[in-house]
Amino acid sequence: MPSTPRLSLDAVSRTFGTLEVLDRVSFDVAPGEFVSLVGPSGAGKSTLFNIIAGLDSPSSGRVLFDGSDARGRRDQTAYMPQKDLLFPWRTIEENAALGLEVQGMRRADARARVREWFPRFGLEGFEKALPFELSGGMRQRAALLRTVVQERSTLLLDEPFGALDSLTRQEMQQWLQEMWAGNEWTALLITHDVREAVMLSDRVVVLGPRPASVREIVEVDLPRPRGVDQLASPAFGELERRILELLHVQG
Ligand SMILES: Nc1ncnc2c1ncn2[C@@H]1O[C@H](COP(=O)(O)OP(=O)(O)OP(=O)(O)O)[C@@H](O)[C@H]1O
Ligand SMILES: [Mg+2]
Repeated sequence: MPSTPRLSLDAVSRTFGTLEVLDRVSFDVAPGEFVSLVGPSGAGKSTLFNIIAGLDSPSSGRVLFDGSDARGRRDQTAYMPQKDLLFPWRTIEENAALGLEVQGMRRADARARVREWFPRFGLEGFEKALPFELSGGMRQRAALLRTVVQERSTLLLDEPFGALDSLTRQEMQQWLQEMWAGNEWTALLITHDVREAVMLSDRVVVLGPRPASVREIVEVDLPRPRGVDQLASPAFGELERRILELLHVQG
């Protein structure tokens, strides 16, 4: 890779007591790249995101951002955890401003900042709505807005569309693809949906069962922008099959 990677994982391991969760996980992510992580449930994917986000530390190994050790730094990424729920009693605007307020921004400034983002997230006019008044896809976009508005160049998205029906999910994938392309983000996505991983990613990191290690990294060399018409292409199907095979290999 010619440029310094945005993110480098160098033999990251994590144990909780006697439970080994991550086993020397190593891979790089280039600036502006979209990388997905797939692997069995309980493999250690969310644990890896917690470490990258600086909320947890590796038992051994290193995390580098732009070539520098980032141990314990929480300001390198915007993180949407696996269960990123909106507070039901706060308006969408108040929910979206939460991340900025936690960072120490004044409440009025935080709300003014998030309002600028509403049109791009298809949420214009819903600033004062409560979460129950929104559809599932809109709520998910609001949770993403809360993450993205922190204006960090690197996003960590842990199964952001896991709870959505397949049609809404496809719409959200298209939308995320456009947002990613338009904002020069570096993105890491955890998903159980292999089709989603192929649709969105430049590369897919396939992890084995716990303790998770990198089984293989699959390049997705399909032209962009990608649409649902591509789902039926032989190249797309071949990549899906390859990743599914890797996931199902024993041992
Ligand atoms: N703080 C912790 N203390 C002890 N064990 C933990 C802790 N965090 C995670 N684990 C354990 O680490 C293992 C991996 O959990 P993790 O949440 O990373 O899996 P995952 O790959 O994200 O799974 P899923 O796909 O179901 O979300 C699990 O066995 C879990 O119980
Ligand atoms: Mg998880």
